[in-house]
Amino acid sequence: MKNLQTLNLLPILALTSLFVKISGTTSLHPVLTGPEMVYLGSRVAFRCIALNSSPPVTYDLIGDGGVLIATYTDYEGDQLAPFFMKASATLEGSYHCKATAGGRTGVSNTTKLSVVIPPSITIVTSEPSPPVVYEGSRIVLSCNVKKGTHLFYTWVFNRKELTSSTTPFFNFTGNKLVIGKVTPEHAGSYYCMAWSMVKDIRRFSSSTEVQVIVKVYASKPYISLSIFKEGASYRGNVTCWSTRGSPPVNFSLLVDDMEVGSVTVPESLAAWFSVSVVPELDMGMARCRVNTEVQELMSEPMSLELVPVGGDVKVEVQYLFSPYSLLAAARLRCHIGRGTFPYVSWFLNDTVLLPEPHLDVIIHPIQPYYILADRRRTLILIKLDPEVSGYYRCRVSNSYDVSGEWVESAAVPVQITDRILNSMPPATSPTETPTSLHISTTEVISIAFCCFVLLMLAVGAAIVYKMFDRKQDHTNITAANSSSDAFPLFTSMSQLGGQQIDASSTDCDDLNQTIEITV
Ligand SMILES: *[C@@H]1O[C@H](CO)[C@@H](O)[C@H](O)[C@H]1NC(C)=O
Ligand SMILES: *[C@@H]1O[C@H](CO)[C@@H](O)[C@H](O)[C@H]1NC(C)=O
Ligand SMILES: *[C@@H]1O[C@H](CO)[C@@H](O)[C@H](O)[C@H]1NC(C)=O
Ligand SMILES: *[C@@H]1O[C@H](CO)[C@@H](O)[C@H](O)[C@H]1NC(C)=O
Ligand SMILES: *[C@@H]1O[C@H](CO)[C@@H](O)[C@H](O)[C@H]1NC(C)=O
Repeated sequence: MKNLQTLNLLPILALTSLFVKISGTTSLHPVLTGPEMVYLGSRVAFRCIALNSSPPVTYDLIGDGGVLIATYTDYEGDQLAPFFMKASATLEGSYHCKATAGGRTGVSNTTKLSVVIPPSITIVTSEPSPPVVYEGSRIVLSCNVKKGTHLFYTWVFNRKELTSSTTPFFNFTGNKLVIGKVTPEHAGSYYCMAWSMVKDIRRFSSSTEVQVIVKVYASKPYISLSIFKEGASYRGNVTCWSTRGSPPVNFSLLVDDMEVGSVTVPESLAAWFSVSVVPELDMGMARCRVNTEVQELMSEPMSLELVPVGGDVKVEVQYLFSPYSLLAAARLRCHIGRGTFPYVSWFLNDTVLLPEPHLDVIIHPIQPYYILADRRRTLILIKLDPEVSGYYRCRVSNSYDVSGEWVESAAVPVQITDRILNSMPPATSPTETPTSLHISTTEVISIAFCCFVLLMLAVGAAIVYKMFDRKQDHTNITAANSSSDAFPLFTSMSQLGGQQIDASSTDCDDLNQTIEITV
């Protein structure tokens, strides 16, 4: 019974195995080769072959949507079927080939072809346009091509290629260069290159350069007054300036809140106004105002009152000691009763101590035994030996009329003896100097430090001055007192610049106050 069944099944099995054999040989396996990317207009060659098929073999090249593109018949067998085309934009798509031989067929894998159009006519557009932005805002530059596909973009800033690793503040997305928070360093020329690459062949198209202008917010203006003599009367020269800002800006002078002058400065950040002043007459409160398209800022008020020097003038002497209680320096201060524009001269016995009239801090070049500070109101004797003993006095005149009237202090003796030099803090010394010589009861450890600081400030000021000299053409203004509030790098510089001026106007007193030790 079982055997019979097997017998019955045999023909079926045989048939099946025959079928399997036939279907195994009927399937052709054509292989299609061809490029993945070509430039527009170049020659494209696809090749199809189905090995071990008996000729004639017909090959069909079939495109997207089953469209028959070309047919080739191989009469000899194992011949490559070539298909040549010129790359047009419409040629981009997927391809496969179908082989037919003796009633058997086979289909190849699909390959994709990209037709690359090289870039041409590249321009940079900006948002905002034109590319003028205030610091802190955002700017987007786009690299646009009139024609071109499969493109890459390279940005060049001030002739240097930008890469995301070297320039983390730039953001590259597609054809865009995004700067989220613009700083003054981002100002400069930009251009882009669009490029494509097929195998090793690159095609470039560069844009022209675009200038990005970064505007800086103006800082609070400063005001100062200088007086000069004009015949028999006097005129005031009011200077208004800002340490930061992008010209053009408008400066105005207000006196008692009335605008008395206004000027547009195209390049610098300072303006001058001439005002009439009469000594001893209060001409009102002056303020400077700075206007830009986006800002209006006012200076602190300044009195236009011109008070000639007068009242009591006296010299106060203070001895400064080193940490080892050795006498290190003597500080003489000229106290002035009144006067808004005093000019101070110092005398030792009857010899004037030569200052450069226009400088505030002098280390005397030939006999470096003194320093003038605090707009010459303080004289510091830094090299104490018996030779600098004598009578010191200060004489004060008006800076706008130096040869005019003046007031003078009494002469104050400064007695440097070997005994004083080697003594402990001389609490007994005042007895030797009965007049106005006042010997300090405080021990000051900082004179060496103070002189060092002065020197450092002078060096710092020189550096700052140089830096600003390059940065702005208005150097004398930018080196002046400032507490700029914006871009951090410049803030620190201008603060340093401010200290430089402060050094000349505050002397060592402020420094000493923090480190003076009372005994
Ligand atoms: C066709 O594609 C398949 C699947 O992607 C792959 O395994 C096979 O190797 C390809 N054949 C040829 C001839 O490239
Ligand atoms: C760049 O842009 C992306 C997406 O907008 C953002 O996530 C990323 O923080 C940006 N990087 C910088 C450095 O701005
Ligand atoms: C005012 O002072 C400035 C700076 O010192 C100078 O350049 C300007 O000529 C002066 N103006 C007048 C009217 O003297
Ligand atoms: C500056 O002053 C000029 C002339 O007075 C005026 O036309 C201009 O609008 C002012 N500019 C600004 C930013 O205020
Ligand atoms: C100044 O005069 C006094 C007293 O006449 C004298 O002792 C002293 O040496 C003089 N000082 C100088 C530097 O000439």
